[in-house]
Amino acid sequence: MDEMKKIAVINFKGGVGKTTLTWLLGKIISEVYSVLLIDADAQMSLTQALTLYNGEIDNDFNRWSNASAEKEKTLSHIFNGFVNSDITFSKFNVDEHFIYQNLSDNIHFIPAVNELFSDSVRPFTKRNNGKIMRPIEKFMEQVLMKVQQYKKGNPYRYVIFDCPPAGGPIMVSILHCADVIIIPINPDGFAVAGLRFLLTELKLNILIDKTILPTIFVLMNKAQPSNKIGTYTKETERFSDAAKIVVKRFSETYKHRALFIDKYIPETVAIKRVFKEGLPSYINNDLHNIWKNMEEFI
Ligand SMILES: Nc1ncnc2c1ncn2[C@@H]1O[C@H](COP(=O)(O)OP(=O)(O)O)[C@@H](O)[C@H]1O
Ligand SMILES: [Mg+2]
Repeated sequence: MDEMKKIAVINFKGGVGKTTLTWLLGKIISEVYSVLLIDADAQMSLTQALTLYNGEIDNDFNRWSNASAEKEKTLSHIFNGFVNSDITFSKFNVDEHFIYQNLSDNIHFIPAVNELFSDSVRPFTKRNNGKIMRPIEKFMEQVLMKVQQYKKGNPYRYVIFDCPPAGGPIMVSILHCADVIIIPINPDGFAVAGLRFLLTELKLNILIDKTILPTIFVLMNKAQPSNKIGTYTKETERFSDAAKIVVKRFSETYKHRALFIDKYIPETVAIKRVFKEGLPSYINNDLHNIWKNMEEFI
């Protein structure tokens, strides 16, 4: 199978671990397959985490991003081309100015730019300066078709999107093409209500005209370890149980495959260093198991 699988990591809440999880999954999958990571969040967390060293931007990336902007090949340029004009987008070819390829052999990267913020609040109208807009939900799908043309014969096996907390047209277009949606949550009271809201909103308002529904995984991150090794606090377990019920009810009510992953990611300071230093082995093992668990359904 050489089809690209698209994974969107989402949550309306910030700080739950979307960016961290995007990177961790990317790392694990890249041990076997080639991966394309896309930072779709104007806050640029993933981009910064991967290209800043002690506050200084990596030289190679700096040169690359200047050239990318100059050639008008940032994600924002391409989005605006798609929205505004037929010709710009039709003429746009994916090349090395669109995809940064020097992170590692198996992980390529499309970084975010700040302009994605104004793009994300662009009114969702059919008209823009009097021009008819393309159907925005098709944006990412069409970009990825161009990526596939560029990578013909050697396609990415997985594309993982680090999504912004808020909605907006780019986010909708990502969800529209996603085969898999991963929702990290944290053990707190608002998380469960937020999860219920997010799932329902996805189902009723965002994924409405999709023929093949994406599988949804909900994953507990920042689980609080208890004193006994390998176990979590009562509170973490209580919130996990509540989230699990929300996922189960959603899945039954809407006949949509949604799964709560029974293994959690613990809260640990080691995770703050993963972008530069890798993972301690005990979390690494857990994450491999979590991915194995998910992969069965993908
Ligand atoms: N399991 C974890 N243990 C400890 N800190 C974590 C964990 N997961 C994420 N963090 C930290 O929480 C903050 C928010 O994580 P991030 O991945 O940026 O979330 P989001 O992308 O959802 O905003 C970051 O400082 C990150 O290092
Ligand atoms: Mg983030």
